[in-house]
Amino acid sequence: MFETLKKAPVDKIFKLLGEFRADERDEKIDLGIGVFKDKNKQTPIMRAVKKAEKQIFDEQTTKTYVGVSGNRGFCDSVSDLVFGDSVDKSAIRSVQAPGGTGSLWVLLTLIARARPNGKVYVSDPSWPNHWPMCELAGLEPNFYPYFDAKTGKVKFEEMMATLDGLTSDDSVLLHACCHNPTGANLTNEQWDIVAKSLKKTGAFALVDSAYLGFGEGLEEDAYGLRKLASELDEMMLAFSASKNFGLYRERVGVAFCITKNPEQADIAFSQMGNIVRASFSQPPDHGAEIVRVIMADPALRAEWEAELKDMREFIVRIREKLALAIRERSNSSNFDFLTEHMGMFSLLGLSKEQVDKIKKEDAIYMLDDSRISIAGIPENEIGKVADAIVSALR
Ligand SMILES: Cc1ncc(COP(=O)(O)O)c(C=O)c1O
Repeated sequence: MFETLKKAPVDKIFKLLGEFRADERDEKIDLGIGVFKDKNKQTPIMRAVKKAEKQIFDEQTTKTYVGVSGNRGFCDSVSDLVFGDSVDKSAIRSVQAPGGTGSLWVLLTLIARARPNGKVYVSDPSWPNHWPMCELAGLEPNFYPYFDAKTGKVKFEEMMATLDGLTSDDSVLLHACCHNPTGANLTNEQWDIVAKSLKKTGAFALVDSAYLGFGEGLEEDAYGLRKLASELDEMMLAFSASKNFGLYRERVGVAFCITKNPEQADIAFSQMGNIVRASFSQPPDHGAEIVRVIMADPALRAEWEAELKDMREFIVRIREKLALAIRERSNSSNFDFLTEHMGMFSLLGLSKEQVDKIKKEDAIYMLDDSRISIAGIPENEIGKVADAIVSALR
């Protein structure tokens, strides 16, 4: 049977991780994988998470199934967190899914049920999993222009020229904040323009929120998705708690549908449940229960928010220091865009040859398209990273 198949393409992030692990140089630095690392190069378990876990360990009395739609207290608390009061909750339906990826899977599959072979427009570039996930769901991915590697900024006019030309048969996948891989984001005014365009064309919006709280703050980062939720009759949102709660391996996410009326909301909910049942039957509970406990306890929630703020400020500090270190070494402000970017990643705009040179000569690993995980740069090695970038540019 397997002779009919070829090896599947390797995910470039995990391929790079394999190369990094095989490198025997002690001084190696991994800027590939998107996980937060503190000054000790560790990905810590957040304090509020540890406390919630302990509470669950002491108080949980059963491990029986939670049901197809998952942990309802968890889904409702995430709904309040992301949407605030931007939308009438009676039109929202949600199911829990394994991570942001599982949530995207449920939603893309639902789009494909509503619009078989429909076109989904994703940013150029985007998180590498968006494109294959659209294909696997039975949808046709296309790009909309997004990033100008020469300036490090969003090509907003070109992006809008594509979005304005869409029809009500099309769907658009937007990053809520902290765009992956580029780090370049829409301003609030630009989100207003996007909302207006989607309203006019009727193109359907699917928003991917994997980094809420990593940009400017929980409220600030929700501006765009709330704008769409308040302006559009219908949309979808995939939420991941992997990064902002540091629950990566627990696989915690929520798939949301906002619909035109409660009748359609019930249809969407039954369809999402049907997809969950046929895909993985029920989501894992442990991570979701951790988030539910944190969100329900004012002291734990305050502790979580404070720790998230620390992570955000750490990333901002690394961005500023790296931009400064490159400026000092190169006498140019060409990399100042690093301080305008937000979230874990920035795309440096280096060629594949330059990326390979840095890997070979400096043992610094970044993706071939020169995406770096800012949160992966050890604070005491910023100078080394800056040296490597400047030397590759010569
Ligand atoms: C843009 C984007 N969407 C979704 C995800 C998926 O996150 P999860 O690990 O929760 O599946 C990621 C993770 O890197 C991401 O960067």
